[in-house]
Amino acid sequence: MKTNYILAFESSCDDTSVAVVDTEYKVYSNLISSQPNHLEFGGILPELASRLHMKNIMYLTSAALQEAKVDLDDIQAIAVSINPGLIGSLIVGLSFAKSLAWSRNLPLITVNHMLSHIFSNYLVHPNIKAPFLALVVSGGHTELVYFRTETEFEIVGKTLDDAAGETFDKTAKLMHLGFPGGPIIDRLAVGGDPSFFQFPRALKQKDNFNFSYSGVKTAMLQYIRSIDDEYLQEHQADIAASIQAAIVEPLIKKTVRWARLHNVENILLAGGVAANSALRSGLTTHANKYGINAYFPSLKLCMDNAAMVAAAAIPKFNQGLFASLDVNAFSTKGTKLI
Ligand code: KG4
Ligand code: ZN
Repeated sequence: MKTNYILAFESSCDDTSVAVVDTEYKVYSNLISSQPNHLEFGGILPELASRLHMKNIMYLTSAALQEAKVDLDDIQAIAVSINPGLIGSLIVGLSFAKSLAWSRNLPLITVNHMLSHIFSNYLVHPNIKAPFLALVVSGGHTELVYFRTETEFEIVGKTLDDAAGETFDKTAKLMHLGFPGGPIIDRLAVGGDPSFFQFPRALKQKDNFNFSYSGVKTAMLQYIRSIDDEYLQEHQADIAASIQAAIVEPLIKKTVRWARLHNVENILLAGGVAANSALRSGLTTHANKYGINAYFPSLKLCMDNAAMVAAAAIPKFNQGLFASLDVNAFSTKGTKLI
């Protein structure tokens, strides 16, 4: 059987990534160039991010083709994420993808970045079948998305204010732990007691599948202000574990409850926060109790990368859902089919 190779680009935020993946979800290369240049500013500088994408994308493309041992003549389609994200960063990836598609006369497939996080699961478990429920948790998004088929879906729950990742990051900042906060709190929480301090859980009603983290964040702020540095140092693991539990517990409970209520057998976890160890193990244990499977990507594939863009493009490739060359990038938040 002929191998169909997809060359994919991801440049929505501060990581430039280029990958070669075939339509059976086999990854041949998945190169990521991250941008530590932003660290000194305590956040991402959009203009700097765009310029670094421009600097890196050409070199990364050659290197990705080389590592995959293919050349442009072997490529069957070009895939790229076009929203959500920083608009300047998205435009760099899209312009480069368009120019390659045009010059090589290849179909262009555009994907939503958040959807591609979900499809990263297929790179590890290529036999997953819809219907499934996806929990997408990242720095800017917390969404529960039900997929009837691989290209038809609806959002059945979302955060009404802050995202789960943002809550990890802001709390870590309050504790002077550095950025991004999620992995630091995850590491610190190992061996800590999650019931050390009971932070509030919002929207606990059984029929409510939305999330809210602003109250939790305020409670954390008040708590951290109420203790002194010495106490914080002494109980760092217990406090980190309590914060982590307050963030992940509603995610686990609501996701499994929705799946049970609608007889969904498969849950797919995705996004940067899918790397969280308590979320991965808690979701698996709770879902398995009810005969539901919980899938998550490898730790590397939880982060922004272009292989997941190719994975999200595969159902579109199979259905011939190609984009026109006048398509634009847009920064709007959310999981929207494009
Ligand atoms: O998906 P992503 O790489 O970028 C966005 O599109 O936002 O997600 C980044 C987020 C950050 O908020 C980071 O703190 C969080 O994912 N994160 C984690 C862990 N690793 C990354 N949160 C909790 N536990 C982790 N191990
Ligand atoms: Zn992302």
